[in-house]
Order: sequence, then structure tokens, then C-alpha cells
Amino acid sequence: MSYSEKLLEHYENPRNVGTLDKSDQSVGTGLVGAPACGDVMKLQIKVGKDGIIEDAKFKTFGCGSAIASSSLATEWIKGKSIDEAETIKNTDIAQHLSLPPVKIHCSVLAEDAIKAAIKDYREKNGAMAPEAAKAA
Ligand code: FES
Ligand code: FES
Repeated sequence: MSYSEKLLEHYENPRNVGTLDKSDQSVGTGLVGAPACGDVMKLQIKVGKDGIIEDAKFKTFGCGSAIASSSLATEWIKGKSIDEAETIKNTDIAQHLSLPPVKIHCSVLAEDAIKAAIKDYREKNGAMAPEAAKAA
């Protein structure tokens, strides 16, 4: 099996590894696991008042493809609005990294992690609770 250069590049020099302050209201945290292999990915976003993702960090306990997928995901979502980031598909990630079929679920993990982080951010900021807006 030959891995793509882009994949190896992200694996060897992962971008945006780290942690953002979970207690910060502008930070959304997504923690997801892959049932297929037990790997775990944490992805966090810091969102500005304008809804733009200013920063993103990840920690992945998993294979090289999962690490490369999360590295690429953080690169792609930085500077995007949360609505735009939500539209990123695992197939885009898999295609960009030329993931082999057995590694497709690693990119699914990255898509799920982005969505989970956005959901957490929205919940924290009262997107589901209109009364929070009234109180402000
Ligand atoms: Fe989990 Fe890839 S099988 S590390
Ligand atoms: Fe399971 Fe990559 S996340 S093999």
C-alpha cells in the first residue's frame, strides 16, 4: 500500500496540534471515536463574534491517516465561517489525502469532529435557546 505524499507530509508535520481552553465560551469542543478501530479525535474551534473560526486545534489518538485528516481539517476550517466549515465532507479530506479505502473511516472521524465542535459551540452560545438572546 502506498501512501500519498500529502498524507505523509501532514503525518510528519501535523498542523495545529494542541488544546484550547474548554471553559472559554467562544471555544467549541468535539470529541469523537471510531467504532471501527477505537481511535479517538478531539477537535476544538475558537469562534469570533462574526462567526469566523479564528483558531482550531486537535489531538488525535489514532493512526497516521486520522492524524493527517485532523491536521488537514484544522487547516481547512481556520478562517471559514462555522456554516462553511460544517459543509466539509469526509470525502473531500479522503480525496485530498488519497486515503486508501480501508482508511476512509479516519476521514469520517475528522468530519464528525468538526460537526461535534460546531454543535458544542452553538449549544454553549445559546443557539438552541432563544431566551439567552433576550437576556443579553
Ligand atoms: Fe486505529 Fe488506525 S486502526 S489506529
Ligand atoms: Fe481508525 Fe484511522 S481512525 S484506522
